[in-house]
Order: sequence, then C-alpha cells, then structure tokens
Amino acid sequence: MRIGILNSGGDCPGLNAVIHGVVGAASKLGWEVIGFRDGFEGLLPPGDYQVLDSEDTVGILKLGGTILGTTNKGHFAAKVGKEGESKAEIEENVIEKVGRTMKLLEIRALIVVGGDGSLSTAWQLFQAGFPVIGVPKTIDNDLQATAMTFGFDSAVNCVVDAMDRLHTTAVSHKRVMVVEVMGRNAGWIALWGGIAGGANVILLPEIEFSLEKVAEHIKEREARGYHSSMVVVAEGARTPDGDLVFQDETNGQVRLGGIGDIVAAELEKRTGKDTRACTLGHLQRGGAPTSMDRILGARFGVKAVKLAQEGRFGRMVSYQSYHVSSVSIEKAINKLRTVDPNGEVVETARAIGICMGD
Ligand code: F6P
Repeated sequence: MRIGILNSGGDCPGLNAVIHGVVGAASKLGWEVIGFRDGFEGLLPPGDYQVLDSEDTVGILKLGGTILGTTNKGHFAAKVGKEGESKAEIEENVIEKVGRTMKLLEIRALIVVGGDGSLSTAWQLFQAGFPVIGVPKTIDNDLQATAMTFGFDSAVNCVVDAMDRLHTTAVSHKRVMVVEVMGRNAGWIALWGGIAGGANVILLPEIEFSLEKVAEHIKEREARGYHSSMVVVAEGARTPDGDLVFQDETNGQVRLGGIGDIVAAELEKRTGKDTRACTLGHLQRGGAPTSMDRILGARFGVKAVKLAQEGRFGRMVSYQSYHVSSVSIEKAINKLRTVDPNGEVVETARAIGICMGD
C-alpha cells in the first residue's frame, strides 16, 4: 500500500506535525508514504516527490513551515474574488495529468492538507474519482465543519506575544498602538489574540465599526487616567466607507493589508494622541507550532491514515467537542466560518470592557 500527502495553500505552524502523524501511523501499517512537493503542483507528471519514512520525520513535529513546500499559485490555484466567493475549477487536462501520476506511482490514497481553497480542489479531485482525504489547515480558523484548525493557536500566541511587547512601549509613551493581524475575511485571530493580549479595542470584519466611537472610547480611557490604548484590527475589517484594504490583486486574488495604518491615522486625528500602527503580517505564520498545534496536527495526521485504512474517501478530518472525527469535505468548503457578532466570545470581550467599535 502506498499513500501520498501534500500541503497546499499558505503554510502554517503544525503542517510538519501532520506529516509526522501520517508517516508514523502509515509505517505502523507497513505502508509507504510519498510526500508531494509544493502542493498539488507535485502531482504533475512525472511527479515531484520524496519517499517519506519514519527517519525523515524525526524531529520535524516541532518545526514551523512544511518540509514538503507549498504554494497558493499554479495550475490548481483555488480562490477567486475578493472574498473567496467563487472557486476556480481545475481544468480537465490537469485532472488527467494528476491521474497519470497517481497511476504511475500507484497511490491508493491522497491526503490533502489545506484550507478552504485547497479543500475545494481536493473535493473536485474526489468527484473525479480520486481517493482523496482532507485535513483542515489554516491560521485563520475560518473553515466550516471543524471547531478548530491547527495553526490558529500558534498565530494567536504570536499576536499575544507582540501585544505584550507593544503594550510596554505604548504605556511608556502614552500612545495608542494599532496592531493589524491576519485572518482574511474572518476575525478569529483578532478576537482571540485581542482578548488574550489585553486589547482595549478590537475591530473585526464581522462587526461594522465607527472610528468616532473608537476615538470616544480612547478619550474616556484618557479621562480615567489610562493614557495608552491597544487597538487590534483584523486585516479584513472594512474602512468606514465599507471598503476592503489590500496591497495588490493578481488574477482575482487579493492580498489584504493596510487597514491598520488607516485606523491609526484616523484615531490620531480624532483623539489628538500620538498613534502608531504595527502590522504583524507573516510573523503570525512562521515559527514553531504551540503544543496545542503539535498535538492537533499529529492527531489529524493519524486520523487521516485511519480514514484511508477504512476506505472513507471524500472525508475531511474534523475536530469537534475535543474529539477528532470526520465529515464530508463538501461540508467544509461551501461557506467560510466567521465570527458570530452575537456569540459568546464577542459577549465576553464586551463584558470585560473591550470596545468593538459599534
Ligand atoms: O490564509 C492565511 C493567510 O495568512 C491570511 O491570513 C492572509 O491574508 C494570507 O494568508 C496571506 O497570504 P500570502 O502568504 O499569500 O501573502
């Protein structure tokens, strides 16, 4: 028995833990694992891959990034549209090429570790008859049908670490510090990172905000003797005019970024306070995974092999109520999972005095 694994889309802490889990569980069954390089691109004939045995994965569980490489470009590029609202279909001739490699290498199961775009591609391949199993990955935590993705906890920890550092300088200079975080069109990283990092204001894509109200909140704090304020803004939060702020747009794919600078400039104008913006960017994607993401990644990898053993293709590993189970891949890709503006975590933020800008 020979199975394949690939990582696709943006990298994220915990990918190597999944590879470690897959190779460990597969070796126990006497199976061989082929790791395809650079996402789905590695599937194009003659195949760009490496055989992974247990020795290749010694010590990788704790490493960030992915030993296999990944890409969100190329023949399988998945997301189209500013909000990922439409998905690119893989061309017939590309599917045929994938078939050639799978046949040549006698791959009996293909484990695809990816976010919503890559899992859409995985679903398309499954529908074309390939034995595909999905593993949910993204720091954004925006996938339906799983309570959490690995990578999210590491990203949140990065935000918290940055906020702890920025807080001391904000206090020393009596400044407002605006921290822009990733998350694409979902505010999970901003919400969790903001609460855990002691933010005074959190601005999300899911809650329409007024900068006037944010400025009022900062001024009230000032009047109460708190001369510094920490504002967390999600990269997908919109300007008061309702626009997304992005760096560039290529082939219909946008690279978000820049709302932090806009918010900082507006708040400085409205409060008269010295204000600085800091964009955390790819720091949130790099570095070693947290213990939570190492364990989640390893569990996901082992479960993916189990699904292959049971012949349950078209399924995605899913984390629900502290258990790792599975759902149809289709359930995860139809719609993004965004923050519920009336949910318990937002309520918690409000209850502890955080201004959500509304
Ligand atoms: O989806 C993960 C993510 O890090 C988003 O939070 C961010 O908007 C995007 O990827 C950045 O993509 P790239 O690495 O292509 O700049």
